[in-house]
Order: sequence, then structure tokens, then C-alpha cells
Amino acid sequence: MTRTLTLTRPDDWHLHLRDGAVLRAVLPETARDFGRAIIMPNLLPPVVTGADAAAYRARIMAALPADSTFEPLMTLYLTEETDPDDVVAAHASGLVTAVKLYPAGATTNSASGVRDVNRVRGVLEAMAEAGVPLCVHGEVTDPDVDIFDREAVFIDRVLDPLRRAVPGLRVVLEHVTTADGVDYVMSAQAGLAGTITAHHLVINRNHLLVGGIRPHYYCLPVAKRESHRQALRRAATSGDARFFLGTDSAPHTDGNKETACGCAGCFTAPNALSILAHVFEEEGALDRLEGFTSRHGPAFYGLPENSDTITLTRHETALPAADKIATGDGPVTVFDPGFALHWAVAR
Ligand code: DOR
Ligand code: ZN
Repeated sequence: MTRTLTLTRPDDWHLHLRDGAVLRAVLPETARDFGRAIIMPNLLPPVVTGADAAAYRARIMAALPADSTFEPLMTLYLTEETDPDDVVAAHASGLVTAVKLYPAGATTNSASGVRDVNRVRGVLEAMAEAGVPLCVHGEVTDPDVDIFDREAVFIDRVLDPLRRAVPGLRVVLEHVTTADGVDYVMSAQAGLAGTITAHHLVINRNHLLVGGIRPHYYCLPVAKRESHRQALRRAATSGDARFFLGTDSAPHTDGNKETACGCAGCFTAPNALSILAHVFEEEGALDRLEGFTSRHGPAFYGLPENSDTITLTRHETALPAADKIATGDGPVTVFDPGFALHWAVAR
């Protein structure tokens, strides 16, 4: 039985770091194990211009532990006013890796997002031309669409028409939560990938709602029924290079989660790799973990794989249960997978 597993150092292709005191507290949790991460731009106000991204990147670099080689891969928040020249220049200079599409109102700090994708057609065409990938929060926001159907409806109404209209655009359907999303990514010939979080491989909507509401399992897209979770597990462990890890680790203080109108987000940065090793072992796919965490993402983004490695060790004794991390704004609860973890990154 495998006791250790050495992987090319993983990357996280979807991460929320926030700013200020929370940034300083959560950044080491990712920088410890991951080589790079795609940094989400949904700050208040959002990271819209190349200048915003440069300033945010500088704050991240200043918050990094001194010996860290972690590299933040910056994104711009797409608005209906985004200047295509600014996007192309920020990408060409190496400052920005991708652009993020939030449908307006879909999730945390998405009010400045896109109401009508036809209004950003010019930016998307410039991005296709310049090879700038688009990261997509794939949910419609129409009040008449049930929250559990919002991903599938987005694919039909927005994503597929958008990809047909701008065929050269490279697109990441982020945090896929449905079999519909998996099938859509698998149906594409090229230029489309899907990220999958650790938490959506572990929880379904029963975990969120049965026996009492669990605010720390509330995220967007919301966890779906069990058959969807199974489809995600098959996709993640299949070895298909179109799927890779994007944790969507999204810290909110306990005060903002455990309240009448709690924020969406699961904070998985500290234990995402332990959870993934557990899941891949359960699926008999430990040999495919490295593709998911470390190889498929760089291949899609046209970046080199990390040149160093991490080693995961399987301990006989369960690791201490994840608890909270302290931040200057209050405690942030670490995602509890609901089972004992045995795999840990060796340090
Ligand atoms: O659960 C989520 N939290 N989903 C998102 O799309 C945004 C994120 C956040 O920023 O908290
Ligand atoms: Zn996110």
C-alpha cells in the first residue's frame, strides 16, 4: 500500500486571497504547498485594470512569507466598460494571466459583473486574438431560474452561444458542479477546460441542508445532488486533461458565515491536498492525482509545470481535525470534509 506520494508541485487554478488582514492570514496556507495560483479579482472595488492588478499583486507579494517562491497569477474582473487594449497590454506584459467573467449578481462582489455578454464581445474578440483565457463563473442570475439549475442553464443560454460567437477564445468553466458541466467540457474539441474544487468532490446538497443548515458548506455554485458529485469525481479522477484543480478556496470570517444571510465560500486552502489524496485513493486513482493537481492546468494555460515536487505521506493515525485560522478580522473556519484525513503534505 502506498505510504508516500511525490507529485510535481501543484497549482491552484482558482483562488480567493482577499486583501489586508485576511490576505496576510490565508496566503501562507496556499503558498506552503502550491507553486502558483490564479487569483480571483472580486475585491471591493474589483481588480478591473492592469494598474489595479499590478497594485494587488504588489500587496500579495508583500504578504508572502520571506522564503516563499509562490507566484500569484493575476486576473482582471471583466466589466461592460473593460478596455480591450488594457487587457491585451496587461497580458502581453506578463502581469495578467486571465480575465474573469462574473455574471452580475451571481456571487460575492459580482455587482460590477457582466449583465449582457454581447456588450463585452469586443473584449472577448481581442482576448481570443491575443490568446488571453477567459475564466467563467458559470451561473445565470435570472430570478426565475432555480439555484440548482443555474449552471446547466448558463451553459445553454450563455456559454455555448458565447463560444460559438468567439470560437478562438480559450475558456475555463470554473468550479464545475454538475454532470451537465462535465458533459459540456467533455464535448468540446479544444479551447475549453473545467476546474473542479476539492469540496464539490466531497459534499452534496444533503451535507449542506440535512439535520440543520451548515453555513460552512454554503458556496456558489451551490453543491448539487449526489449524482452530480459522482460525475465530478469521475471527471477529476479520469485522467482527462481538460479537468484540473481550482480550489475556489474562499475565506469569509465566521461572523460573515454564521449569520442570517451568510456569505458563500468554503475555505479549503489548508487541507485541499489532503482531501484530494483521500478522494483519489477512494476512487483507486492516486496515480492520476498529479495530472489533476500539477500537469493539466499548466498544459491548458501554456505554462511550464513546476520544477520541484511535494510529498504526501499517508499516516496511520488520523490528522487533527481542521479548525479555524485566526485573522485580523476574526476567525475563518477551515472546511471540514466530514471524515478523518490521513494524507498530509510532508514538511
Ligand atoms: O462560494 C463562492 N465564494 N463562490 C464564488 O463564486 C465566490 C466566492 C467568494 O468570493 O467568496
Ligand atoms: Zn471563486
